[in-house]
Amino acid sequence: MTDLLPIALAAVAVLAAAAAFTIAWRRSNDPDWRANVQAKAAAADTPSEVPVTITAAAADGEEDAGSVAVLVDEEETPEEEPPAPVEYRAATEEEMGMTRRSFLNRALASMFGLFLAGFGMASLAFLWPKVKGGFGSDIDAGDADEILAQVLNPDGTVNPMFLPEARAYIVPMLEDSVSGSQFEGNATVDASLVALFQTCVHLGCRVPWCAPSQGFECPCHGSKYNSVGEYIAGPAPRNLDRFVVGVNDRNRFIISTGSIIATSRAIRKSVRYPQGPSCI
Ligand code: FES
Repeated sequence: MTDLLPIALAAVAVLAAAAAFTIAWRRSNDPDWRANVQAKAAAADTPSEVPVTITAAAADGEEDAGSVAVLVDEEETPEEEPPAPVEYRAATEEEMGMTRRSFLNRALASMFGLFLAGFGMASLAFLWPKVKGGFGSDIDAGDADEILAQVLNPDGTVNPMFLPEARAYIVPMLEDSVSGSQFEGNATVDASLVALFQTCVHLGCRVPWCAPSQGFECPCHGSKYNSVGEYIAGPAPRNLDRFVVGVNDRNRFIISTGSIIATSRAIRKSVRYPQGPSCI
């Protein structure tokens, strides 16, 4: 529902742009639109005449409950001039054609309408992937067995797979590492694979992988995490965040990028770090 809200707002913006464009276009086609609007407003403001009954009794100073008595001093009351009739005439040939002003008005209205329509389309295009499989949705990373073979070298070292659309590193976490760790049973490990959110939990830098040390090391302020994202050192307040993952009936590794799991600093580390020199 929250994903659809920005799209609805963008659609409203496009409709508003279309309405503004239509109004501007109609006004550019009607050079007298302002005079017409003023004439209608003046007609609406003119009070209608109220019939007044003047009786002979009232004129003589007697009361008559059934009528309203008004004494009219014909010398003091000025006669109202009847409104001058509005003259209409046929437009000339020149007026029927496109004047420079109307051309400029139409050009400006067209450019404004095109700009707003383009902005609305760009907004929709930007937001659409959230609904149709981009970050925020479930992302199919590929066959689980093939991914594990890619990220776990035969000598036991790790080679993370980065998935840009999921903003995630996929790393191995074998069963004996999961057992007894804080990740046991929290749906962030399946088929011995984990999907770590790329963002440093300190101030949001993207954390690169350091192959020599076999860990993630943030160049911004020096936070360090081991290969399964457990906090090791630096100002980061917790482990790297993880996504909920799962393997479906076709053995596809699915990353739910709409479900981010935050965990506190690991006390018991599941894997060893560092295994070589640091990168920062
Ligand atoms: S943003 Fe990574 S340590 Fe500060």
